[in-house]
Amino acid sequence: MSLQDNHEDLEKARGNPHKVLALVDEFANQNAMMIVGGPKGGIVTELIKEQQPKIMIEMGCYFGYSAILFGDAARQNGGECYHSLELNPDWAAAARQLIELAGLQDFVEVIVRRRDVILDKFYRDGKITNIEILFIYHLKPAYLTDVKLCEHHGMIVPGSLLLADNVIYPDKGYNTTGLLERTVKSWMPVGDVPFLETIGNPNIVYQSVLRQPEGGRDETEVTRFVGVQEA
Ligand SMILES: C[S@@+](CC[C@H](N)C(=O)[O-])C[C@H]1O[C@@H](n2cnc3c(N)ncnc32)[C@H](O)[C@@H]1O
Repeated sequence: MSLQDNHEDLEKARGNPHKVLALVDEFANQNAMMIVGGPKGGIVTELIKEQQPKIMIEMGCYFGYSAILFGDAARQNGGECYHSLELNPDWAAAARQLIELAGLQDFVEVIVRRRDVILDKFYRDGKITNIEILFIYHLKPAYLTDVKLCEHHGMIVPGSLLLADNVIYPDKGYNTTGLLERTVKSWMPVGDVPFLETIGNPNIVYQSVLRQPEGGRDETEVTRFVGVQEA
């Protein structure tokens, strides 16, 4: 089957998230793509089965690979919604097409805007008050700002799970060659000002482990809330 120019293959995959992902995997074998992929993705889907989040958020949708893989797992495990935040409208548009092909359009919501602005709005609108699972996979230097924003709003609570992808070999996914400076600096775009400067909550204690799929090189960092230390 092929993702390119083959309408019949696309129709065979319609409504089947795993067939859609198989097409993307095949395409990614021939073309450089910054996707979580099946082996590392499997670590996250196991955690979704254990945790059974009602709402899951991901920072960085790209073409929707992880949104399809994790959205499908979350839906199968009693989830209500998967929010995928993406800065680039073109990638978001492509992702929406694949998500629709996979039949997940009523479950996975792709939102185009700076992720920190959306997360802050979720909080202020009362849409999301605490983090169940947050999957972070965008520009590595900005991972910490996401966590601090969640801490600032008191969204990190017992049970919160923070999953940071691409932590060992970020070079592949974070090769910024050819990217707009605005994209690279997207946690604070050029000419913009941070809408919220926060130090987060330095008293929160976490436990982190690195998880690597068998035979893999890169790892995913799995971080759990442990408690809050007395100041
Ligand atoms: C490595 S890709 C995500 C891969 C995807 N999670 C997957 O595994 O299929 C990172 C994505 O983060 C997006 N991104 C970078 N900065 C962002 C920001 N400030 N807000 C939202 N998305 C951002 C990029 O446009 C890119 O599509």
